[in-house]
Amino acid sequence: MLYQSFLKPLLFKMDPESAHEWAASLLASPLVRPLQRVYRGIWDRDFPELACQIGGLPINHPIGLAAGFDKNAIMVRGLAQCGFAFMEVGTVTGQAQPGNPKPRLFRLPSDAALINRMGFNNQGCEAVAERLATLRKKPLPLPIGGNIGKSKVVPNEQAVEDYLKSFRQLMPFVDFFVVNVSSPNTPNLRALQDKGPLLELLTQLQAEQKNNPKPLWLKIAPDLNPSQLEDIVDVAHSCQLSGVIATNTTIERSGLSTPMAQVEAMGAGGLSGKPLKQRATDVIRFLRQHLANDQAIIGVGGIETGQDVFEKLQAGASAVQVYTGFIYGGPDFVFRLKKQLLDQLHAHGMQNLGDLGPWIQTAKV
Ligand SMILES: Cc1cc2nc3c(=O)[nH]c(=O)nc-3n(C[C@H](O)[C@H](O)[C@H](O)COP(=O)(O)O)c2cc1C
Repeated sequence: MLYQSFLKPLLFKMDPESAHEWAASLLASPLVRPLQRVYRGIWDRDFPELACQIGGLPINHPIGLAAGFDKNAIMVRGLAQCGFAFMEVGTVTGQAQPGNPKPRLFRLPSDAALINRMGFNNQGCEAVAERLATLRKKPLPLPIGGNIGKSKVVPNEQAVEDYLKSFRQLMPFVDFFVVNVSSPNTPNLRALQDKGPLLELLTQLQAEQKNNPKPLWLKIAPDLNPSQLEDIVDVAHSCQLSGVIATNTTIERSGLSTPMAQVEAMGAGGLSGKPLKQRATDVIRFLRQHLANDQAIIGVGGIETGQDVFEKLQAGASAVQVYTGFIYGGPDFVFRLKKQLLDQLHAHGMQNLGDLGPWIQTAKV
């Protein structure tokens, strides 16, 4: 309420990246936490019917924060107070890098969408690992995934070493890993989604895990064709992945309400939010038909309501993530999604998430 009528109009007057930085500094500040706790006490509720697991990790409900919002792990506790059940930090790369020149983030309000070409701006795996180590000195209220990508200056032929560097650095401090080969904003990155290089990369990462292996997920693009998706399924089987995160942003621009001249002026980048919703759900449905039920899909793309969450779970996801919907929806976005998801379950005569399908493992948290 406060966000929609007061804060959002202010933030949306700012350039999108400055607005993000301003919100990030609030969420990073321990001074804001007591206010967040009061706000959460009023608006959020726990629903045991929504408890479930991903990759064996118990979570209070199936809604997490997608990668890219907290690239450097600076606002983990503030984001936990926004109600997320799990989150990813990153994308983190082997080397610190500034990302692409600004402007690189654009709003498309009439499409409830964003276009970004951030280019993995991040402080590098060492700095992020150090920050996570400090955070871990006190218990963390939610599972954290380390989303790892390739440094821009590293050629694809040396990508494995770069991923391994981040993997080793983050290993002691994250609960699960996500291998990102699907951002459209690092030149040639998406070529690593091809079967050969992908098998090589994931096999080496899995070989690095000795005792207590951490769940490993692969994040894919929405722009893959059926035969490429079949390759992903083969790789997921042979590398014993915990599952697949579907999907990253799209390079598609069709069907937008924003005038094409405006869209073209924004330039290259990945489109997220509502226009991605259907495609992401279709990818989830395809993958679900081919993956075993113990290989979980995390559905992401264009979620705005509890009904959208329900649709992704029904299509075959075991949990979901949000990013753009959170920007448009504000700090109580997850509180609303949870309540709306529960209403959807009840409207369909279901008692808990397990009733949606055998790919969802319910759990007492
Ligand atoms: C500004 C921005 C930055 C992003 N950065 C990353 C990133 O660093 N790594 C990643 O895997 N995905 C990144 N994403 C993609 C999101 O995690 C998510 O997959 C995508 O936005 C679709 O979800 P949404 O429609 O809910 O936003 C980014 C998205 C946005 C909008």
